[in-house]
Amino acid sequence: MPTIQFKGKSFVQNHHFGVKYHELIPHHDKSHTERVSLYDNLIIHGDNLKALKAILPTYSGKVKCIVIDPPYNTGNEKWMYNDNVNSPMMKDWIGKIVDKEDLTRHDKWLSMMMPRLKLLKDLRAEDGVIFVCIDDDEQHHLRILLDDVFGPENFISNIVWQKKYSPQNDAKFFSDMHDHILCYVKNTDETLGWKRNLLPRTKEQNSRYKNRDNDPRGPWKSSDLLVKTYSKEYDYPIETPSGRVVYPPAGRCWRTSKERLQEMIAENRIWFGENGENVPSIKRFLSEVQGGMVPSSWWSREDAGDNQMARNELKEIFDSPPFETPKPVSLIKRILKIATNPGDIVLDSFAGSGTTGQAVLELNKEEPEKEPRRFILVELEHYANEVTAERIRRVIRGIPNSKKDYLKNGLGGTFSFFSLGEPIEMEAILHGKSLPTYEDLARYIFFTATGEEFDPSSVDQKRNFIGESNDYEVFYFIDQTWIT
Ligand SMILES: C[S@@+](CC[C@H](N)C(=O)[O-])C[C@H]1O[C@@H](n2cnc3c(N)ncnc32)[C@H](O)[C@@H]1O
Repeated sequence: MPTIQFKGKSFVQNHHFGVKYHELIPHHDKSHTERVSLYDNLIIHGDNLKALKAILPTYSGKVKCIVIDPPYNTGNEKWMYNDNVNSPMMKDWIGKIVDKEDLTRHDKWLSMMMPRLKLLKDLRAEDGVIFVCIDDDEQHHLRILLDDVFGPENFISNIVWQKKYSPQNDAKFFSDMHDHILCYVKNTDETLGWKRNLLPRTKEQNSRYKNRDNDPRGPWKSSDLLVKTYSKEYDYPIETPSGRVVYPPAGRCWRTSKERLQEMIAENRIWFGENGENVPSIKRFLSEVQGGMVPSSWWSREDAGDNQMARNELKEIFDSPPFETPKPVSLIKRILKIATNPGDIVLDSFAGSGTTGQAVLELNKEEPEKEPRRFILVELEHYANEVTAERIRRVIRGIPNSKKDYLKNGLGGTFSFFSLGEPIEMEAILHGKSLPTYEDLARYIFFTATGEEFDPSSVDQKRNFIGESNDYEVFYFIDQTWIT
C-alpha cells in the first residue's frame, strides 16, 4: 500500500502517547450554565493536542461525529508549529510562522496533524465518523495521511462543497470554487459501524412526483419496467388496456415475472399512459420513498451555504465580524443531519468562531422533544472566550436584530468553559517528585472519576473525601509507603 513520508513522521507517529495529561480548569464566569460540568456542552481554550488528551479519560470511544476545519496551510494563515517533539530538527521549527517560502511547510503541517488525528481516532465511537475540511493546498497529502491513521478501507467519501458562487476574476489559472470534506468511519461493518442518515427530501426532488390518475396513495413517478439484463422467462408479450400488444425490445426483458405483473396491474401499480396504450411503466409512490440520497457533491447554496453566507452569519451576531474564515452553519448542519442522531456527541477541535456549536444548538432547537446532541469545541487562540464562546452565548440568549425567528428568540442551551491547567506528571507523582498540591491532584482525580465540577470547599482531607458528584462520593488515598 502506498504510504506518506514526510520530515518528522518518525518522531510524531507515537508522539500522542507521550503528550501529558493536563488539568482542565473550569471557568464559571465564562460558562453559561448553573453547574459547570464536563458532561455539558464544552468549550475548551487551549492547544487541541493537550485538550484532546485531557478529555480522553471522559470521552474515549464516545464521540459520534468529529468535524474539523484545520488551518488549510495556504501560507497566509500565520500558523506556527509548536509541538514539543523530541527532535532537534523539530525544536528548530517551533515558533516560526509557516509561510509560502517555507520549503518544509507541508512536512510541518503533516507533523502537526498526525498526532491530533491519532487522538481523535481514540475519541471516536465504534459507530463514529470524522469529516475533515480542506482545500487543494493539502487535500492530496491529507487523504494519504488519513488512510495511514484511519485505514484506507474506512474511507467513505471525498465530498466536494462549492464554497463560492462568483468566480474570482483575477485568478491566474482557475478560480478556486470548492473545498473538499474527507470522510472516514471507524468501522464499515453494517451493524457495528457508522450508518448515514438520508437527507430530508427537497421540494425540487418531491416536485418530480405527480398524481396523474388521482390515485388515493398520492403523487407518484413512473420508472422503467424494462431491464437490460436478459432473461427468457421475463421476455413475454403484454396486452395494454387499449388492446395493443407490446414486447420488450430485442435483447431486453421486463423487470418482473408474468404473474407478479398481473398482481401489480390489479394493485394499480402499472401505468399504461393517459390513453392506456403506452409501453407499461411502474408507479413509484412518494409516500413509499425514504428520504433524499446523500450526493458527494454539494452544489446548493440553499442546502450547504457558502463562504459569503458564513461571513454574513457572523456579521449578524457581531456587528463587525471578528473572524475571517468561518464555515456556514448550514454546511455543518447538513453534516450533522447525515452523521448524527439525538443524544450524540459532536467534537470540533479547530473551533474558530464556533460554527459547530451553533449548528448543534440549532438542531436541538429543531427537535425539542428529543435528547439534545452535545458539542465539544477546542480553540487555541485568545478569542476562545471573546469569539468562540461569545458567539454561543449570544445565540443561546437570542440575537435581537436577526431576521431568523429562531435566532431572534434564542436557541437555548448551556455550555461549560474550561482552560488547560498544569500537566499531571503521573510518573513524577509516583516517585514523590513534583507532587502537586493536594487540591490540584484532588481536582484532577475528581474530574477524571466523575466528569463533574470539583468544589474545593467540599474537601475534607482528614477523611480523604474530595467531593460528591451526582452519582458518587469520591475519596482519594495516597499510600505514602509506596512513594520512593
Ligand atoms: C479554519 S479555522 C476554523 C473555522 C471554523 N470552522 C469556523 O467555522 O469558524 C481553524 C481554527 O483552528 C484553530 N487552531 C489552529 N491550531 C489549533 C490547535 N493546535 N489547537 C486548537 N485550535 C487550533 C485556529 O486558531 C482557528 O481558529
